[in-house]
Formats: sequence, C-alpha cells, structure tokens
Amino acid sequence: MTAIGGPLLAWYHQAGRNLPWRKTTDPYAIWVSEIMLQQTQVVTVIPYYHRFLAKFPTVAALASAPLDSVLKIWQGLGYYTRVRSLWQAAKTIMDEFGGVFPSTQKELLSLPGIGRSTAGAILNIAFLQKHPILDGNVKRILIRYFCIAKDPKEKVVDQELWQLAEQILPDKEVNHFTQAIMDLGATVCLPKNPKCSICPVQPGCLAYKKGLQDTLPMKPVQKEIPHYDYVAAVIQKGNKVLIKKRPEKGLLGGLWEFPGGRVKQKGRFNEVVESEIGQKVFLMPRWFHIRHAFTHFKMTLHLFRGSIEAGKIGAPFKWVTLSGLAAYPFSAAHQKIVLKLQNDI
Ligand code: ADE
Repeated sequence: MTAIGGPLLAWYHQAGRNLPWRKTTDPYAIWVSEIMLQQTQVVTVIPYYHRFLAKFPTVAALASAPLDSVLKIWQGLGYYTRVRSLWQAAKTIMDEFGGVFPSTQKELLSLPGIGRSTAGAILNIAFLQKHPILDGNVKRILIRYFCIAKDPKEKVVDQELWQLAEQILPDKEVNHFTQAIMDLGATVCLPKNPKCSICPVQPGCLAYKKGLQDTLPMKPVQKEIPHYDYVAAVIQKGNKVLIKKRPEKGLLGGLWEFPGGRVKQKGRFNEVVESEIGQKVFLMPRWFHIRHAFTHFKMTLHLFRGSIEAGKIGAPFKWVTLSGLAAYPFSAAHQKIVLKLQNDI
C-alpha cells in the first residue's frame, strides 16, 4: 500500500460521502456522473444525475433519443459541449462497440468528451483497473502533499503530476481510492483554508510540514476577463414569440434563444437584431437586463420587446406559443427570459 493509499482508504470507509453514483457498478451511469462532475459541483449534479438516468437509463436509450431532448434534461448544467459529446459517444458505443460499454483506455479515449483523467476514473470505478486520475482536486492535493512550488500550468509540471498520480495508486480498491481522493479534495484539502487538522494524510504532507498549505498551489497570473454587451429581442405576434436555434457548433451550440447577438457598437441594439433576423424590427424601450459570466467573458444581456412586419420566417427561426417555450432547451440567461415571460402571462 502506498503512503497516501492506506490512510486515505481507511478515512474514506469511515467518512466518505454517500453519493448516488457510488451505489452502482453500471459503467454507463458512472460515465454520465463523471461527465457531469467534470465542471460542476456535486450538489448541483445530484438532481440532474437522477433525472438523466430516469429519462435515459441505458446507452441505447441515450443514443436513440433526439439531441434536443437530451439538451433539455441538461438545461442549466452549463458547458453544453459535454452533453453533445455524451450523446455522440453513446451513438458510437452502439454503432462501433455493439452497445457494450468499452473497458480499455484506448477505446475510452477514442470517444468524444473523455480525456485521460475521466477515462482513468471510469476504469478505476467501473472496471477496477489501475489508472491515474488528475482533475483539479487531485492536482491540488498532489501539489501540496509533494510541495510542488511551480506553475501547475507548465507542461513539465503537468507531466510530473501525472507521474505522481500514478505512483500513489494502491494495488487494491482503486475504485474506492478514486472516490476517496475526490472527497478529500472536496471536503478537506480545500482551495482556501484547507482543514489540515482533520486530514488523514497530513502526517506525510510536505506543504503542511513547511507551513505552505495556504500558499500552494501557486496562483497563475490572472488574465483580465472581457465584458461584452449583448441584445435579445422578444418579438411577439399574437400569442407567439420568435425564437432561434443556435448553430450546433460553438458556444451554447444547439440551444435556443431569443434573436439578437453581441453589440459591438455601443447602443446599436436595433441593428444587431435586424441583421440577425434580416428585416426591419421595431423595439420598445429597454425592458430589463441580465448579467452572466462565461469562462472567458462576462456579458450584460439587454432585453427588448418588439415586433416585425412580416410573419413568415424560416429555419433556424420558429414561432412558438408562450406555453410551448417550455419544450425547448435554452441557455441559462435566455431561460431567465422564458421564466419572466411565463410569469408575466
Ligand atoms: N468529481 C469527479 N468525479 C467524482 C466522483 N466520482 N465523486 C465525487 N466528486 C467527483
């Protein structure tokens, strides 16, 4: 047993969290949980995990569902590339692996959305195969335990961390070890104010020995995040509003929204909506605004109610009744508009 493995497993059996994906050995369910957990916290994931598996209980069910219905279940979880890849990968598993969930690293890495760490987690948890994992939590733990006072974004440091992640793996119970190290990162070895007094691996932790637990990992230089203005128009005709499907590729691909876009010249809201729809648009004074932060930029979305002359307008646009909006997957910001419209009825 490795110096970390023994104490960590003992701690996990006594203090580990009781999470829904720890009650299954179904690789499909474990895969879904790992993809959801890639960029989202456990508390947020739990209800989505239950809803997703209730609606798509098997790879076959997911592969044969329309993408829109899968996006709808994912709505609000963010990072939508994950769900498109999940759906695409389910199709590949059906078409190329005969519907049997792959159990080798090579096959898993060939699927969209699965990188080395997620493949490692699935192999450890679902197939009890020994593979390193290195997500944000594990990185932080290794950097502190081995006191690595270097920029973790550097390639050589990353390679060093992968090697350490491999060395600390125990020979048995790799499934529990993986869950344990994730729990340690989420509940004890926290980014700020780590709880070293209750940490099961504190006796071996070099950062703790040197009093550097609050200084490590080294902070990368923060880049300035740009802030952009966006506009969206709720264009109504009778009891219907106009919505548009975003292209499948790119930011928020395949989700629906109210027509508009980025406002590059200050205050030119009308022009942006008109160029998007391709005809004259009449906007009323500004209705309200929403602020939203993406990974690479922040946005202020300015909302207008408005009307257009011609009713005929084809794909990717669609006229939908207010009550019908609930069936379409929207991004988080545009979902707020939907809720406001439904509350205003
Ligand atoms: N984050 C990524 N995978 C996880 C898991 N299996 N349990 C808890 N948090 C996680």
